[in-house]
Amino acid sequence: MHKIVIAIDGYSGCGKSSTAKSVAKELGYTYIDSGAMYRAATLHFLNHQVAIDKPEQVKQYLAGLNITFMINPETKEQETYLNGVNVEEEIRTMRVSDYVSEVSKIKEVRTELVSQQQKLGKSKGVVMDGRDIGTVVFPEAELKVFMTADLEIRAKRRQKELQEKGAEIALEKILSNLAERDKIDSGRKESPLVKASDAVEVDTSHLQFEEQVNQIVALANDRI
Ligand code: C5P
Repeated sequence: MHKIVIAIDGYSGCGKSSTAKSVAKELGYTYIDSGAMYRAATLHFLNHQVAIDKPEQVKQYLAGLNITFMINPETKEQETYLNGVNVEEEIRTMRVSDYVSEVSKIKEVRTELVSQQQKLGKSKGVVMDGRDIGTVVFPEAELKVFMTADLEIRAKRRQKELQEKGAEIALEKILSNLAERDKIDSGRKESPLVKASDAVEVDTSHLQFEEQVNQIVALANDRI
């Protein structure tokens, strides 16, 4: 069967990852969370106290960065591994969230991760979510989706998600983290977050989760 690449980009906390995961499941495709890769790189740099303003140091530590994904046999959820260690929970903490957009601005980091992402999507049948998937990683993707949602709604959803994991974070803190990341991601020089001219915009502010998944699956089926 003809397989396609589905690129899902958008602002922080729009539900891109959970939507992309469900779309992949519906289509029998592989889901790749590019944000998890930037988060894992950030954790690696934090763990080694890398001076991110020193390109030589950045390059040295990038060479020792190995990011893989594995399915947890119990939960059936995909989890992120950094140099063989499961870091799925740690990369979602505020410590990483507060620093990830700074690390993601670095050219050398983007070049390395984009190349890894392109390899992962080479045989098609993938759904990848991020900020530059439709513009830089897979400019030829058969389906590009740009997801948006009101900032306040995104923050409340993210707070609920963190609460379910046992982390009680004030709404204000989440609001400012999302707004700050949107600002850095959209304003950076390297691959800023922009809607690709051929992307379909999906505003999830008032959509039920199943509705947004069904919309994207329908768009995909039109192109398969
Ligand atoms: O998707 P998520 O919110 O987990 O991504 C974390 C951060 O990683 C984003 O705020 C952004 O700075 C960076 N990112 C990126 N390019 C991508 C995916 C994520 O710059 N393709």
